[in-house]
Amino acid sequence: MRSTEWWKHAVVYQIYPRSFKDSNGDGIGDIGGILSRLDYLNDGTDSSLGIDAIWLNPVYPSPQYDFGYDIMDHRNIDPQYGSLEDFDRLLAEAHRRGIRIIMDFVPSVTSHLHPWFIESRSSAASPKRDWYLWRRTSGRTEYPNNWYGFFGGRAWEWDNKTGEFYYHNSLPEQPDLNWRNPEVARAMLDNMRFWYDRGVDGFRIDVLNYVYKDREFRSNPPCLGRRPYEMQRHIYEKDLTESYEVAGMMRAVADEYGEKMLVGEIYNPDIEYAAGFLGENKDGVNMVFNFSFAEAPFNPRRFRKEIENSERVIAKRGWPSYFLSNHDITRHISRFGGGARSMERARVAAAMLLTLRGTPFLYMGEEIGMAQTPLSRRDILDPPGQRYWPFYKGRDGARTPMQWSAAPYAGFSTARPWLPVHPDYPKVNVEKASGDSSSLLRFYRRLIWFRKEQSALLDGSIRFLDAGGKTLAFLRESERQLLLVCMDFSGGGTRFSPRGLEGASGRLVFSSHDISNPEISCDSIKLPPYGVMIAEI
Ligand code: NOJ
Repeated sequence: MRSTEWWKHAVVYQIYPRSFKDSNGDGIGDIGGILSRLDYLNDGTDSSLGIDAIWLNPVYPSPQYDFGYDIMDHRNIDPQYGSLEDFDRLLAEAHRRGIRIIMDFVPSVTSHLHPWFIESRSSAASPKRDWYLWRRTSGRTEYPNNWYGFFGGRAWEWDNKTGEFYYHNSLPEQPDLNWRNPEVARAMLDNMRFWYDRGVDGFRIDVLNYVYKDREFRSNPPCLGRRPYEMQRHIYEKDLTESYEVAGMMRAVADEYGEKMLVGEIYNPDIEYAAGFLGENKDGVNMVFNFSFAEAPFNPRRFRKEIENSERVIAKRGWPSYFLSNHDITRHISRFGGGARSMERARVAAAMLLTLRGTPFLYMGEEIGMAQTPLSRRDILDPPGQRYWPFYKGRDGARTPMQWSAAPYAGFSTARPWLPVHPDYPKVNVEKASGDSSSLLRFYRRLIWFRKEQSALLDGSIRFLDAGGKTLAFLRESERQLLLVCMDFSGGGTRFSPRGLEGASGRLVFSSHDISNPEISCDSIKLPPYGVMIAEI
């Protein structure tokens, strides 16, 4: 690994700032709150989580229609979260602890209150008119084409003042930028420079596959589906291969600074397409988020298939990355069935995530087993949840406050939080988990610190072993080390003999359970229910 490729060894922790920790008693998380919990994330010892980087969801000034993904000023911090000085302090304090900071960058849209859009909207002759996507038709009843928005409804908004439509893939309050205009590309790339100059270590790039739209604005072809959005094939307003160019432009800017990391959110399960953003000869982003895990049930065969796919497609051109949860999807502990054994399943999932070849991204709270919060209609703030309730309940349930303790509001705030806390917080919280040697949190800590010292886990190859339908088993091999990683997905425990390792023996180096004899014979490996074992062979 080149020293500039720090992100290959990193464990990244995603913070949804609104819900991490409130420091000023307004019920909304903020930068001061994050500062106060940096030691929890990494204080240099194994009594902290030991993460290497934070990905911060957007903290820029925003009217918060889409909770920060509608940016009105790319070069400042929303006063709800703090100030630029607070941010600089966060950078300095994080760096002092060896934690890098990755910001969220939202290339395809701005807020409708961004000065660029206000100017663009002011007149059809505005010099910024072409910075957004305006279309004229015979009148307000004739849409420019059949495109629908991701959050529902037509993607075209009529503007009375100038008698034209503007395009918005997300909310009407999020007009899409015109990246075909070189001034837009330049201004947006300069916004990245602004943060690099302050010292940020990279960006997570929001829906990078939505940046370019069809030059001719052709209507999408129809297909079968239930909702209007699903009744067309989305080939013209997203997923264009032309958008690969933008990854190249961002790479060039990052390379002006060295050591910077870019990870692209490619909201498309087609991994071959996503891999295109990695560029040829590494002239694209460093990693792409792989959404395949988000849809996989708790099944070792399915995970193996997705990982092998990623190895085949991604690893050729770049570096794999994996996540199980984020702010847009149902928390995995709930996806995997919840219930009495949910913590054990979460432990198996964590073991898989943290031992694969690639960079793991954790979503805040997963380390204590936070589940999706059940919410009632009146609690829902997420626009698609409000629109589609009860068929789709939105994303708020994955965004509720971090559970720090059994104190009121889970120790997140002294005031009523912006979203309710999960009712399980008296049992599921950081304080309690820290004091319990068998907790999921202690398991995450132990494994993350263990991982840092294992060359096979950091740099080694990965090869799956056939171990039956209950177990996931693979070898990680570096020049110095050969590790066998295995875990029981069945909950009933298992005994197996991995094909290809007949006669081999090893020594247990990591385990989820107390095991009296550290010597392992590969002819008969016994895993306790939901057990995880790593053996050096
Ligand atoms: C992807 C972000 O992750 C999501 O939270 C946001 O709502 C959409 N982009 C639209 O901006």
